Amino acid sequence: MILIIDDDSSIRTSLSFMLKRAKYDVQAVASPKEAMAVVRSVEPELILMDMNFSLTTSGDEGITLLKQVKIFRPEVPVILMTAWGSIDLAVKGMQAGAFDFITKPWNNAALMLRIETALELNGKKKEEEEEEVSKNGDTFDRSAIIGKSKALMDVLATIKRICRTNASVLITGESGTGKELIAEAVHRNSPRAKKPFVKVNLGGISQSLFESEMFGHKKGAFTDASSDRVGRFELADKGTIFLDEIGDLDMSCQVKLLRVLQEQTFEVLGDSRPRKVDIRVVSATNANLQKMVQAHTFREDLFYRINLITVHLPALRERREDIPLLVRHFANLQCQANGLPKVDFTPEAMDYLKGLPYPGNIRELKNLVERTLLVSGKDTLDVEDFKAQNLQSAEPTTIQGIEGMTLEETERQRILQALAQYGNNMTQVAAALGVSRPSLYRRLEKYNIEL
Ligand SMILES: Nc1ncnc2c1ncn2[C@@H]1O[C@H](COP(=O)(O)OP(=O)(O)OP(=O)(O)O)[C@@H](O)[C@H]1O
Ligand SMILES: [Mg+2]
Repeated sequence: MILIIDDDSSIRTSLSFMLKRAKYDVQAVASPKEAMAVVRSVEPELILMDMNFSLTTSGDEGITLLKQVKIFRPEVPVILMTAWGSIDLAVKGMQAGAFDFITKPWNNAALMLRIETALELNGKKKEEEEEEVSKNGDTFDRSAIIGKSKALMDVLATIKRICRTNASVLITGESGTGKELIAEAVHRNSPRAKKPFVKVNLGGISQSLFESEMFGHKKGAFTDASSDRVGRFELADKGTIFLDEIGDLDMSCQVKLLRVLQEQTFEVLGDSRPRKVDIRVVSATNANLQKMVQAHTFREDLFYRINLITVHLPALRERREDIPLLVRHFANLQCQANGLPKVDFTPEAMDYLKGLPYPGNIRELKNLVERTLLVSGKDTLDVEDFKAQNLQSAEPTTIQGIEGMTLEETERQRILQALAQYGNNMTQVAAALGVSRPSLYRRLEKYNIEL
């Protein structure tokens, strides 16, 4: 049964009608008091709740009701309904445990999708628990995600639970911890697996190009638009869009992104007909978005929109037991790729590798293993082989033949060198060069450096 709580009788009627037509069992009530009476006696599958009741306009009554419902029925997903002007109320509601929120007036199709997601997610949770009891086979495809530490297993358990839904996922974690790998796994294990997985690096898109890149443009929409261009949202239709480095998005682009995610429609530049998209959103960042929200550099409503589910990837130093598995995995891949026989590691070498700090996480370990393997040319690798490579990467770098270069050539060389040194890890490269990531991307564009 789906419970509708709203003091406006026309809303109760229209929602009931829509849900009944979709074959749901519905009950509608007008006041918090009636709502609590229902919630105490039966467990609804889902609750649609208005935030503003006629008594007050502050919304306190709505928040209180939500908290009460959560105490009695912590498992039941609640979707809040608020007016456009009261987004901060919705945000409070999300903090108090609401599953999602919609703004009035809403789009029926978008609301149905949210309702289905909520029901699916909750149903999956229950199914999961039953499945675990009966110890059924594991259908989750983890492919090349290596490791068996508890920290990683927890991450995999979470994504296994949510991958079949449409819920938006935010993946956090330091650089090189495998955020992209996890994003791909979410897509691969979803019903959207056969549709596109479209990756967008938001750190690499300048503010001026954002709309044309994301929404596409018609020929002649602006001076440089010499032909039509299909935007990323359209490419990702029916599939998954992976918004990488979402913390790098500036405020004006955040608003534009929020619009699309709320309405599931967008407009191509130069063509004002709105287009519908059906996308699942997975985002990643190594920034602390919560702090950015507090500092007002990241919109709170967007934050809640993109992270219905948060998945945090622990740093490699917090799951050292995975290191030997990863080392063998990367070594085997490298040997295969180069047609080399398999290599071995002395126990001392493994101990050494297990003890390094890895600020660059798994990417750093991967680079170290690959470099050492190729440079040493041995079939058993020892501590000294790794030490030599590890020290080398830490040495200050100099540019050969710098005299005679123009300033621009010198800059280009230095960027190339840093890219090589940090295995194209933009966060580390930018840090090493002392520039921000957006300005690093601008320089890559300027010097035509392809990764
Ligand atoms: N558990 C894992 N098993 C095997 N390979 C992994 C694992 N985690 C990460 N990797 C590898 O490490 C490298 C870095 O991973 P990935 O690009 O997903 O990191 P990231 O968190 O997105 O980093 P960044 O924040 O810098 O973009 C990739 O080559 C990836 O394949
Ligand atoms: Mg990444």
